[in-house]
Amino acid sequence: MKRIVILISGRGSNMEAIARACAAEGWPATVAAVVSNRPDAAGLAWAAAQGIATAAVDHKAWPDRESFDAELARVIDAFSPDVVVLAGFMRILTPGFTRRYEGRMVNVHPSLLPAFTGLHTHRRAIEAGCKVAGLTVHFVTAELDHGPIIAQAVVPVLLGDSEESLSQRVLAREHVLYPRAVRWLVEDRLDVREGIVTHRDGESQLLT
Ligand code: GAR
Repeated sequence: MKRIVILISGRGSNMEAIARACAAEGWPATVAAVVSNRPDAAGLAWAAAQGIATAAVDHKAWPDRESFDAELARVIDAFSPDVVVLAGFMRILTPGFTRRYEGRMVNVHPSLLPAFTGLHTHRRAIEAGCKVAGLTVHFVTAELDHGPIIAQAVVPVLLGDSEESLSQRVLAREHVLYPRAVRWLVEDRLDVREGIVTHRDGESQLLT
């Protein structure tokens, strides 16, 4: 059984979707722990209620990114993860941390990367007049919101969309695509060559 550690900062709805899919679909994996940088993250309570181990490493208690990341890695490694899943984990990670989990740490980002890295992706897509928005699941590398793309989902931008309405439609697709991509990872179905990710059995990496 592969061991998954999920990192969150807040609500944790993607974490919940992944934990539910893992149990319901009988993945060869278990969610070993959910770790948050915010002790009051709502998702921690949900995970604990499911009997999943939880931990918090409060970033405010550490003087710099290096010391925070070192403590975070210590806590994560205590759960012996095969796969580390960032699910709304809103911290910039140091290169040392990303190197440690290279090839086995993934993230979901609410835009069609490489467009709109960083924050406020939906507002920026609407303001740019984009007709499509979406989300990207990718391997995590040292560069923020970059890294080999595992899968993407396209969501139309509708006339009159607000940041809120668009983000809700994108989030609904995150809950479908992210569990699917994490399952591929735990089932060793992904190949990465020269920064390009392909699915070994040719499953579509695009959700429309
Ligand atoms: C999700 O929309 C995720 O894509 C985004 O935060 C939200 C977390 O929601 N992540 C990022 O912006 C990372 N750069 P959740 O806590 O309900 O899963």
